Amino acid sequence: MCGIIGYIGDKQAQPILFSCLKRVEYRGYDSCGIAVSGDGIKVYKDAVRVEALVKVAPQLSGTAGIGHTRWATCGEPSQLNAHPHLDCSGNIAVVHNGVINNFQSLKQQLIGEGHQFTSETDTEVIPHLIEKYYDGNLEEAVVATLRVMDGSYAIVVVMAGESKLIAARKESPLIIGIGDRESFIASDVPAILDYTDRVIYLEDGDIGVVSRDNVRISRDGVEIDREEHKILWNVAEAQKGGYDHFMLKEIHEQPRVIRDTLVEYTQTAEPVADLERMRDEGIESMLILACGTSYHAALVGKYIIEELVRIPVRVEIASEFSYYGQTLARTLAIVITQSGETADTLKAIKRLREVGCRVAAITNVVDSSTSRIADQTIYTKAGPEISVAATKSFSAQLMVLYWLAMGYSKADARRLASMLLELRQLPSKVQRVLDSGDMILQCARYLAKFENVFFVGRGINFPVALEGALKLKEISYIHAEGYAAGELKHGPFALLDENTPVIAIVAQDSTYQAMLTNIKEVKARKSPLMVLAGEGDEAIRELADFVITVPRVDALFSPVVNVVALQLLAYYTARERGCPIDFPRNLAKSVTVE
Ligand code: F6R
Repeated sequence: MCGIIGYIGDKQAQPILFSCLKRVEYRGYDSCGIAVSGDGIKVYKDAVRVEALVKVAPQLSGTAGIGHTRWATCGEPSQLNAHPHLDCSGNIAVVHNGVINNFQSLKQQLIGEGHQFTSETDTEVIPHLIEKYYDGNLEEAVVATLRVMDGSYAIVVVMAGESKLIAARKESPLIIGIGDRESFIASDVPAILDYTDRVIYLEDGDIGVVSRDNVRISRDGVEIDREEHKILWNVAEAQKGGYDHFMLKEIHEQPRVIRDTLVEYTQTAEPVADLERMRDEGIESMLILACGTSYHAALVGKYIIEELVRIPVRVEIASEFSYYGQTLARTLAIVITQSGETADTLKAIKRLREVGCRVAAITNVVDSSTSRIADQTIYTKAGPEISVAATKSFSAQLMVLYWLAMGYSKADARRLASMLLELRQLPSKVQRVLDSGDMILQCARYLAKFENVFFVGRGINFPVALEGALKLKEISYIHAEGYAAGELKHGPFALLDENTPVIAIVAQDSTYQAMLTNIKEVKARKSPLMVLAGEGDEAIRELADFVITVPRVDALFSPVVNVVALQLLAYYTARERGCPIDFPRNLAKSVTVE
């Protein structure tokens, strides 16, 4: 995820910008750059690590500047696409986090007016718009620019000859740091903690005019006061954004991840040309390969694709793939991997290529080994995932699978329109699950005393049961198994008693009555029963010992809200048991051995 820094003060800006950029490296990035305002604006940027840029950058003299670490979304990682971006005159430089939905039309209009562009990014329209609207007042030009931009942004603007920086935000965080005869602007607190612990948080719609000794904030043209906060964390804590663990932070990022992935793929992305071509070639089935959590996303994908695209989908664990008879005629192969470095998945890709299959990859890491060897890559927009337990990457993978399935759907236009509406509401529904953390915490306190747990679900929520069990076992060290609810009676019933809780995921779909029957069977074996159910399900309340309610959604999307509740349940349970949540024993974030 991109990082932003701005500096204005008495000191030379360049070393400060670089040291602040190093502090946001943990967010992940593929390119970086700075612009310093002294004798004009000088920009230095490339698709390299900050350390490498520091070594080769010429000394840029000036006491104001901006910097950026970029995680490629719109346009590949390259020197030209790296930020900061300039206007035609080279006097206005901008760094930007977020997505401008209408950048294509703005760009066309600007080109028509004589502006020349050098990058593929959406960001580059911003300095050109500011240039267009500039009439002697930088702040007014920025306000006019924001008025025509549709999308999300955190921006910082510097202009030659101006002793101020302009900051603005909408749906992307931005803070102002107050120092002694110096001021900072940053995407997050760790960027500036080496210099100051006095911070103002900008809110959506705020415009900040920041100079060496002064900060002025306004919205809708009216000046406002924003409280100054003293940061009490150290840098390591600050990277967790105030959360106790990266896992909790990443769980809480999911509304944003879902929104970003949706925006990327429903509004700005090119059609998936290669998949289109494969369809023209008469694809009759799909094969999806993955490991661990990504495998569970693939299993959910099977339900989504079979329902919407109506072709058979086979899902295999990547490490098992070499042992099956490979009947792959007219099959589209997709691999899913967060890290892009999982050895089992890479081996499966090579095997697919050997048997003449073209491979599309869904991954979170730009330029990973997977993206280099796959025929085509579709990136999830989760941002770097640091906690070993995968959470937000799973949601992002699901979003890509929904988008793919809807793109090739045979469902009627009415169904698709209502699905699109549901998709847009998902971030706020997931937020409501996050807001119900207290209810989940009560369940976790109870669960933490047990050593064996079953998760059960049916249909599209069977893989969610598998994922709930995986999350719980890996971070709390409780033995947990995910089962198709109908399978309990074929063996696991022998294990059910008052010491073995069962967690049932109940969706309002065609599985509902059968799930009720399974729940009653579990109760009859005296297992403590926890149920995850849609709001207003009173019948469940009478049967269960604990109920975790989640907002109602179209059953096809129920995995998205259900999994977030189970991630929180695993997190709180592990915390109750005092486990090292972000780095569980014996596990690694990317598994590069077979
Ligand atoms: C579980 C987890 C692992 C990974 C698995 C595959 O929380 O993180 O099960 O999902 O190792 O990793 P990727 O998706 O990077 O291929």
